[in-house]
Amino acid sequence: MKNLEELNTIIGELDSYLSNTFTYVDESLAKIYESMKYSLFSGGKRIRPLLCMITYNELAENPTLDKILPFAATLEMIHTYSLIHDDLPAMDDDDLRRDKPTNHKVYSEAVAILAGDGLLNMSMEVISKYMESLDDIDELKKCIKALKFIYNCSGVLGMIGGQLLDIDYLNEQYNEELCEDMYSLKTAALLKASIVTGAIMAGCEGEIITKLKEFGQYIGLAYQYKDDLLDMNKDLKNGQKTMLDFYSAEEVENKIKSLTNKGLESIKDIEFKDDILKDFCLALIKREY
Ligand code: IPE
Ligand code: IPE
Ligand code: MG
Repeated sequence: MKNLEELNTIIGELDSYLSNTFTYVDESLAKIYESMKYSLFSGGKRIRPLLCMITYNELAENPTLDKILPFAATLEMIHTYSLIHDDLPAMDDDDLRRDKPTNHKVYSEAVAILAGDGLLNMSMEVISKYMESLDDIDELKKCIKALKFIYNCSGVLGMIGGQLLDIDYLNEQYNEELCEDMYSLKTAALLKASIVTGAIMAGCEGEIITKLKEFGQYIGLAYQYKDDLLDMNKDLKNGQKTMLDFYSAEEVENKIKSLTNKGLESIKDIEFKDDILKDFCLALIKREY
């Protein structure tokens, strides 16, 4: 991969890989597959798999798409399940996602809950199937390390914890520090996991991983701050707590720049093949949706 234009090809490969994980099921179970696919193929930007694949490509000696696709797919499945559940009436109660009716609006709340659960399970099945195909112990060890990191970042100490804080803030006093903690967990954790997974699978260890964790944390926060700006009107209407309760849009804009700069500073000594990871992160903060 030499430049950002090539990302569409990679997204195409990811989409085929994701499609192929849905093998035939009995007609009586077709509805759950349909509901899972509805959210998985409804126009997500694929930021997490892209971060994972770009980092891997930038750092691996001989990158092979086949070795990273299972992880990229897993990350998108976890992200998609989290959005299906996030939109439910018991959580954010949203009717629209990506300008389309939310999963529960199309398939019912019960099916949407199961579709989220189904995707979370499938995320693990994809990786275990890939691991089963490996003989090389070192490769298997890398997979275990990456898995531990992904599921730690998406679990109670990461994304799920952040979602809990988000709900709790509706009832409690909160301040900008607590809001940032919530963002770190609900959003930055999985973005960080995506980057670090790419690096682990590229064979990186030690200080590079530490620096990339720091980078992922900053970039993940910047991503959520940008989301606040983009969703400003929707969040206001829904009474959602965001950093715009504490800062003006201009201050948030400055925070995004400063977080991104801090992120780039953390990785300035890492030798990447190209500047694609940096360019991609700079493009993320300029995104319009
Ligand atoms: C939306 O994530 C929720 C956040 C954590 C900010 P994305 O902006 O990655 O959503 P899609 O998948 O591209 O729709
Ligand atoms: C969603 O956060 C984060 C997760 C699902 C983990 P938000 O509620 O802020 O994002 P949107 O606005 O629904 O995309
Ligand atoms: Mg939401």
